[in-house]
Amino acid sequence: MADYMVEETSGTRVIRYASIAVAIHWLSAALILTQIYLGFAFGDYPKGSPERTELFTWHKTVGVTILLLALARLAVRLIDAPPPYPDSFPKWERAVAVWTHRAFYFFIIALPVTGLAAVSKRAVDGWTQLVGGTWFPVVPIPGIGEAHEPLVFAMIALLIVHVLAALKNQFLTGGPVAGRMPPFRATEKS
Ligand code: HEM
Repeated sequence: MADYMVEETSGTRVIRYASIAVAIHWLSAALILTQIYLGFAFGDYPKGSPERTELFTWHKTVGVTILLLALARLAVRLIDAPPPYPDSFPKWERAVAVWTHRAFYFFIIALPVTGLAAVSKRAVDGWTQLVGGTWFPVVPIPGIGEAHEPLVFAMIALLIVHVLAALKNQFLTGGPVAGRMPPFRATEKS
């Protein structure tokens, strides 16, 4: 049985995610937004230019970091289950939230893996270079590399749904669900 963290705000008792899960969530969110920017930015420079190479090396490095954080988050989730939703949370919204989170885990693993497949043809003995001269193994299945770009657009669409749902819950419903992910806060008794 997980030992949930409980926070009391404005007289409302909120069972929230453990701090390690919150830290990984916001660090991953910042890296994913940076990654989306890098992914679109390097294409503005001609192939072989130093600017493009530098941005692309950062793109690979941030992608690998997102992958490692996703695996760490999954491990934390297995040890410490997510907090239960409040009884007031409608069933259909609960289903959307659960499936959105599952889809996010798929994307944050599938995106770096397909990226590592996309660079596999140019790999040196099966490895690709990251920032600081570190090397990371590629995924030697070049065919799946073609899914990388369509997956990016699907994840951006999901991200929009996720952010709108979080803001709706915080500002229209008083935050009983969003308050589980600080710095969001439950402001009304549910
Ligand atoms: C940028 C990429 C993001 C990803 C991949 C992501 C993914 C997730 C996932 C998987 C969860 C479930 C908790 C977990 O298992 O870790 C979650 C919860 C949550 N996220 Fe995000 N998130 C992102 C960005 C954001 C942003 C920008 C916001 C707010 C503006 C946000 C607000 C929330 C809230 C309030 C919860 C708790 C709600 C619940 O558990 O149903 N997230 N997120």
